[in-house]
Amino acid sequence: MSAFDPAIFSFNSRFDSDHLVIGGVSAVDLAEQFGTPLFVVDEADFFTRAASWKNALEEAFGPHAGTVYYAAKSFISKEVARWVSKIGIGLDVCTGGELAVAQAIEFPAERIELHGNNKSEVEIRQGIEFGVGTIVIDSFVEIERVTRIAQELGKVQKVYIRVTPGVEAHTHEFISTAHEDVKFGFSLASGAAWQAIELIKKSSSLQLSGLHSHIGSQIFNSDGFAAAAKKLIHLLAQYRDAFNSELPELDLGGGYGIAYVPGEVTLDPYLVMKELADVVKSECADVKIAVPRISIEPGRAIVGPTTTTLYTVGTTKEVELDGGISRRYVSVDGGMSENIRPALYGAEYFAIIANRSSQSEQANTRIVGKHCETGDIVIHEIELSSDLGPGDLLAIPATGAYGRSMASNYNHLPRPAVVAVINGKARIIVRRESIADLLALDL
Ligand code: LLP
Repeated sequence: MSAFDPAIFSFNSRFDSDHLVIGGVSAVDLAEQFGTPLFVVDEADFFTRAASWKNALEEAFGPHAGTVYYAAKSFISKEVARWVSKIGIGLDVCTGGELAVAQAIEFPAERIELHGNNKSEVEIRQGIEFGVGTIVIDSFVEIERVTRIAQELGKVQKVYIRVTPGVEAHTHEFISTAHEDVKFGFSLASGAAWQAIELIKKSSSLQLSGLHSHIGSQIFNSDGFAAAAKKLIHLLAQYRDAFNSELPELDLGGGYGIAYVPGEVTLDPYLVMKELADVVKSECADVKIAVPRISIEPGRAIVGPTTTTLYTVGTTKEVELDGGISRRYVSVDGGMSENIRPALYGAEYFAIIANRSSQSEQANTRIVGKHCETGDIVIHEIELSSDLGPGDLLAIPATGAYGRSMASNYNHLPRPAVVAVINGKARIIVRRESIADLLALDL
């Protein structure tokens, strides 16, 4: 039975007798007013989650708490950047485009961290000129580039080194980043990380203030975070031995897992931070260094659960399978263009009918999009009422991270709008693309 499950919908969602309500606004009204597909962000939920990561970090690490950097790649818009700024946390950007959003709303530059394994000279200059707090150095080429540009601009840039600690994160290969054979960072095992430290120490335009690692995404087991922290703390001790001073900061990245389907559990920030703090403190005591200021970079864990996608059902079809069983194909008005995650990572999602309640028997259903390929699947298999049909509204929860931000115009579908709901009011924060927008790019 595909029923409303509060554990995977945003905090201010409920099923009100016969329809879904988010942030006090009916899903039916949202679809009527703004069209579908539609990303609906529960604004208060965003504030709650972002604040709990900040509070959890501060509670667990006390005076050693650094910054929570919201990972812009998970979803950013000017309004979201304003929220992040207001909450008082930082922003992790990894392109000039993401940085431009922050610049457009005058996000406090010192709270920005500039990432990326292939930052262009233009992006590095854009970051240094704007005054970003930290640049995370990812390669030897970049040490030279950032040094030169900082020098030209007459600035000393604070930097971290991204270290690849050689830790297996238990998640999908494409979103696992800290084993050896990856494009990110400097390998710890090969000595590259140490070499990078020595080179940066020689640059008078770079001020090395810490180390960084990000082991991957959608991780539930905190062993991976702990293993990475231990390895980086050993590198901090090696630094202390060589330079007779201590690096004050350590950034342990993002990757905290969330629930997408019933039965899964979103990681509790207070528990994860407590576990991490225990490991960090005891490891630092072992190697006799002061506990550095610890920063983290959650994206998905902040925005993922805040958002629900609304779709309108267009067509349905019964398909006979082997063994005398059948499957209902239900096509919605979007698909892999605004949610590539099932096709790319085999990600699973859940859905409910949002515009009415139904007592019909359940049917083995596959939710598919309107793109011209078989892999355009939103949900492989779900039990949904057999009377689900054209005109019904479907709601898919937990689509806030890497949905709209990875959306494409495949088959020339305009990308959906994003609407923020709070206290019974809805407003567009990213407007729907139009065919005219698409044609305007095409000369
Ligand atoms: N920090 C760094 C350096 C990262 O590369 C990432 C994500 C994050 C933080 C935020 O990770 P989060 O807390 O959101 O898991 N498109 C994939 C996820 C790719 C993540 C890339 N880096 C997906 O849809 O699952």
